[in-house]
Amino acid sequence: MSPSSILPQPSVEERACSEAVSELIRAELTTAGGWLSFERFMELALYAPGLGYYSAGSAKLGAGGDFVTAPESSDLFSRCLARQCAEVLAVTGGEILELGAGTGRMAAMLLTELEAGGVLPERYAILEVSADLAARQRERLAKLPPAVRERVVWLERLPERPLRGVVLANEVADALPCRRFTLTADGLSELGVALADGDPLHEFRDALRAPDTALARACDEILTQLPEPLPHGYTSEVCLRLAPWIESLGAFLAQGVLLICDYGLPRRHYYHPQRLTGTLRCHYRHRAHDDPYLNVGVQDITAWVDFTRVAEAALASALTVAGFTTQAAFLLGLGLEGMVAAAGTDLERTRLAGEARRLIMPEEMGEAFKVMALTRGGDMSLAGFALSDLRHLL
Ligand SMILES: C[S@@+](CC[C@H](N)C(=O)[O-])C[C@H]1O[C@@H](n2cnc3c(N)ncnc32)[C@H](O)[C@@H]1O
Repeated sequence: MSPSSILPQPSVEERACSEAVSELIRAELTTAGGWLSFERFMELALYAPGLGYYSAGSAKLGAGGDFVTAPESSDLFSRCLARQCAEVLAVTGGEILELGAGTGRMAAMLLTELEAGGVLPERYAILEVSADLAARQRERLAKLPPAVRERVVWLERLPERPLRGVVLANEVADALPCRRFTLTADGLSELGVALADGDPLHEFRDALRAPDTALARACDEILTQLPEPLPHGYTSEVCLRLAPWIESLGAFLAQGVLLICDYGLPRRHYYHPQRLTGTLRCHYRHRAHDDPYLNVGVQDITAWVDFTRVAEAALASALTVAGFTTQAAFLLGLGLEGMVAAAGTDLERTRLAGEARRLIMPEEMGEAFKVMALTRGGDMSLAGFALSDLRHLL
């Protein structure tokens, strides 16, 4: 069944938005000679200034948007994360830097919990690429008590001075633009984007061409590490921006932990022969599908995270891979069950138990979502990683 048949019709405003983004992509495609890498297409569709999915004004996160993240689904997530932050801040002091803070709900809950525990960070910095979401974060965080609110700052770029404390990135790595490849009978091809002339539903289509050196090298490394060969027709993604991103974060972390939370897998599971069509997913009004050329600019596009790539980049940046675990194990290690049990009323307990199930059950967010801790500056005890097993990364 074609994804277009299961998706709600976009509104008139969304169609106009989509047309404006598509026009921009069309123009760039034409200038580039008729072909763009998927990475560039995804970058424009999501982040073209004032037009892309994250840059323009659609709801994006939450019930009225396209998808729900863990901190949007339940404050239990942020309450557990606050415990992990408190444990680190007790050793390092310093600040929290959150990347891609979405609606600001996680920041508000973290700060509320840390204040209640008497362990507020010196500063809570947010680096957000979406002007629209940054405006929403300001509106939400303005409601915090003044003594808390005054610690929150928005950064235009990553810090240049050394940072002590915690760096958080929940569902940011999956939003980094990725490249796509296909294994054909003739070898590796890059799957890019061309104009889909004459297709009534799509302006753009997949288009193959020979991979450039960077993609060829990355795929070569992946293929030689896998325990079995991948079949012809196998299509997947590689995020070449992941390593430079981790390196840029490692560059300023003087002492503390970088927590990457996202859906993803170690490499040998990510590139499993049965995962024939890769991990690219689009989200539009709470429907997930795999057609990035529908509703261009008004739907989210994501790809799962290859956590082995994250770990390799961390090691290359002299960070320690201190923990890797499922979201379920992370939250249980931080006392999720006790939080549910401590609810004031039966009604509240039932509500929290339902939210906790969504966060930890394997068929919901518990197994697909992972948490990785990258540290620098000495051994740190990390309660969320009590059940961490780094052998999963191999
Ligand atoms: C899927 S949303 C997740 C939002 C929030 N962390 C949550 O869990 O609800 C992705 C967020 O990352 C932001 N983002 C994407 N790329 C980024 C980057 N390179 N640096 C900082 N933020 C980024 C987006 O604007 C958005 O706020």
